[in-house]
Amino acid sequence: SRSLRLAVIPGDGIGQEVVAEGLKVLAAALPADVKVETTEYDLGARLYHRTGETLPDSVLEELKNQDAILLGAIGDPSVPSGVLERGLLLKLRFAFDHHINLRPGKLFPGVKSPLAGDPKIDFVVVREGTEGPYVGNGGTLRTGTPQEVATEVSLNTAFGIERVVRDAYRRAAARPRKKLTLVHKNNVLVHAGHLWTRIFEQVGREFPEVTTDYLHVDAATIFFVTQPERFDVIVTDNLFGDILTDLAAAVTGGIGLAASGNINPSGDFPSMFEPVHGSAPDIAGQGKADPTATVLSVAMLLEHLGFTAEAAKVEAAVAADLAERSGTRSTSQVGDALAARVSG
Ligand code: IPM
Ligand code: MN
Repeated sequence: SRSLRLAVIPGDGIGQEVVAEGLKVLAAALPADVKVETTEYDLGARLYHRTGETLPDSVLEELKNQDAILLGAIGDPSVPSGVLERGLLLKLRFAFDHHINLRPGKLFPGVKSPLAGDPKIDFVVVREGTEGPYVGNGGTLRTGTPQEVATEVSLNTAFGIERVVRDAYRRAAARPRKKLTLVHKNNVLVHAGHLWTRIFEQVGREFPEVTTDYLHVDAATIFFVTQPERFDVIVTDNLFGDILTDLAAAVTGGIGLAASGNINPSGDFPSMFEPVHGSAPDIAGQGKADPTATVLSVAMLLEHLGFTAEAAKVEAAVAADLAERSGTRSTSQVGDALAARVSG
């Protein structure tokens, strides 16, 4: 029998509720001979208030031995902005070298898009996950004076760009439309932008079958709304990817459906799967959160671990559920319905 070591970090707010449903569906999807050993880690606002810690070294060490991590949501109004984000979520992404932040933008049949007409949306954003303005490279001068200065310097390495760009080309080559769009702002951010553009063109020579395109990020936001069909695979930097994937969620049925994977393709460290949404403290504990984004993140986790058929089953269950949605269901009712479809 096979076994799967899964770390679970429910985190804050609705994280607890949605992760419980994700685990239900995971259990329903896995073949009977696969034993899941889950270890739950109580990280987030509670631990921070209790001990002042965000990610103890001992936990980081233990996480290294897991096959994958399922994370709910991080962030709470009682903790100053940035503490948990930097000290926990981004720390995990950086420590485990999650350089591929994979975020599908897919409009499932039956889901209403706020966009006019009946758009066919099916793309995937490959967001760089370990560089850009997220590295914390900056500082402040003359704090509190009228002359205060703050810098936030974006880090872009040829190594970092090349590996995410090559990954995106591979993904594009494996899809029917074989189209890859680079999104940047190389008319203004000329230093980083030209490096991205040059590497994008160089790596592209290895993939003659892939059609390429370039868009400035501001223009890309227009096309996300007016012509989302034009996108297949998108590759972009950490911050542009963050912003674009919230927009992607908004046009594909909302943040309650948007899944993501923080992937380390080498397998040297566990990859981490999480809904794109946050902890939503305003509705936490009320059974109102839609667990679908977490369930779709579980599908990505299964796919990543090689359970391809099981991943497809979970996605099919979600598609069938979305096609028939009506009325209001609680978080656990949605989870139960999805688990039942997966087992049935
Ligand atoms: C996301 C979130 C995070 C990010 C924050 C919470 C650090 O917005 O996963 O998209 O900016 O990456
Ligand atoms: Mn975000």
